[in-house]
Amino acid sequence: MRMRKKKNADIRLEKCSDCFLSGDISSLKNINLEIGCGKGGFIVQLAASQPDKFFVCIEKMSDVILLAAEKIKNSNLKNVKFLRADASVLSEYFSPGSVDRIYLNFSDPWPRPKHAKRRLTSESYLDIYKNLLSENGAIFLKTDNRILFDYSLETFRNAGFRLEKLTYDLHNSEYESGNFHTEYENNFSGKGFAINRVEAYKN
Ligand SMILES: C[S@@+](CC[C@H](N)C(=O)[O-])C[C@H]1O[C@@H](n2cnc3c(N)ncnc32)[C@H](O)[C@@H]1O
Repeated sequence: MRMRKKKNADIRLEKCSDCFLSGDISSLKNINLEIGCGKGGFIVQLAASQPDKFFVCIEKMSDVILLAAEKIKNSNLKNVKFLRADASVLSEYFSPGSVDRIYLNFSDPWPRPKHAKRRLTSESYLDIYKNLLSENGAIFLKTDNRILFDYSLETFRNAGFRLEKLTYDLHNSEYESGNFHTEYENNFSGKGFAINRVEAYKN
């Protein structure tokens, strides 16, 4: 996601500091993790609809996570926290089995085969997620990108995940009810792209 440097970013981040994880993160349990949350349009809807659940958003770009944190701050939601980090180091923050759901929404597709390892559903990322996920844990994936989707179905299967609720056209499927749209989702579906979705269960 390309973005211009935000004005007064440090001051604005300081104002949202209570939206960021602090303290003993490793003791957290039953976490619902969104990786690559972008501007936060998805999590603000999901967290409002599930006030009894706890959500953590991971995003590697500080100017982007700032917008998401401000959205949560303004909506007064207390069940969402942010962590600016790269997904490759998640195991340094969270304990094994502490995550119930991982949401991957419109992850960067890295379409060239030589960059496949950078995809957030590559074998090495799935190893990280598998270790973090609880027994009934699952990854919920949405993307407009068919190359990334087909690749992910294969890596999920190879890693032993059980696939459910698979669709190649989410917005015209039975699973659209209760689907919260992300910023990229609105953009791509507005341009006529079909949205792919799947749930991948660890067991
Ligand atoms: C294409 S955007 C999608 C944003 C949002 N999920 C949506 O659907 O509107 C992908 C986002 O993932 C973030 N991202 C990509 N790779 C990441 C990584 N390894 N760790 C954390 N965030 C990552 C990017 O900075 C970007 O904000």
